[in-house]
Amino acid sequence: MTRICMIGCRKGGVTKTTTTVNLGYELSKLGKNVLIIDFDGQGDTTKYYGQDDSEFYIGDALIDRKFDFNKAIYPAIVNGIEQEKLHIIPGRRGDIMTKLDMDMISLPRREERLKLHLAKVAPSYEFILIDTTPGTSVLGLNAVMAATEYIFPTEFKEHSLDGVETLLEHIQDVRFIEEDEIKFLVVPSKISRTAKRALSYGKEYLAERWPKNTSKTVIWERSLFTEAEFEHEPASVIKAGHVAASYYKDLAKELIKNG
Ligand SMILES: Nc1ncnc2c1ncn2[C@@H]1O[C@H](COP(=O)(O)OP(=O)(O)OP(=O)(O)O)[C@@H](O)[C@H]1O
Ligand SMILES: [Mg+2]
Repeated sequence: MTRICMIGCRKGGVTKTTTTVNLGYELSKLGKNVLIIDFDGQGDTTKYYGQDDSEFYIGDALIDRKFDFNKAIYPAIVNGIEQEKLHIIPGRRGDIMTKLDMDMISLPRREERLKLHLAKVAPSYEFILIDTTPGTSVLGLNAVMAATEYIFPTEFKEHSLDGVETLLEHIQDVRFIEEDEIKFLVVPSKISRTAKRALSYGKEYLAERWPKNTSKTVIWERSLFTEAEFEHEPASVIKAGHVAASYYKDLAKELIKNG
């Protein structure tokens, strides 16, 4: 069964895109066939993977039932090399994604269009990761409906943890299920080792609220990720030997193990 993971949080800037880009790359390096879908209106994931001037994008498929979904799938380009096991369906910049969202409102089965399209290509992949925006939208609903599980990166801040709570409630509402029926993993991300108060607040919150759904892997705050963002590359490509280059590899292994 293909694992379709929505990467989400109702708070902005909590590392959804960084998680998608790095986790996707590490999963592919571990031998998994991975497809990335970019719903983030900034097209960041698309840019990381070198497909920001692609002919087609996710909107072409979502609007048109008959569109050949495979035409919107491109190999990710990492370090100048087309990846065999890592593919992307590109997004576009914010105003185009907003227009797409509005155009979808009047379409039949508007919340399920991604799920219906994905059914055709999913068997070719072991993992499909969907990068999303913090807000509510028709696109966001499509991600919730298509996903078989959810990854919530969160900082150890009140707003960020609230952002996980709100999204979890939303998923229950959209799918008419209870929290214990949702497969999800909360990933402590961009965590500062020196902000002691935040560290104990976050640890206590997660231990009490989601003891079984919190990842063992912690993504610590490191400047390598900002450097990698400048270069539009996964962190382990920028500096393979760096301690922070292993964070998302560890997370990828943990994800595979808890399959
Ligand atoms: N572990 C980390 N340590 C330090 N900086 C990080 C880390 N992870 C991500 N960042 C930086 O934090 C910023 C926000 O990350 P990112 O863009 O992935 O968040 P996002 O949740 O996708 O944001 P948005 O809601 O705007 O889509 C980026 O500048 C990124 O480089
Ligand atoms: Mg983002």
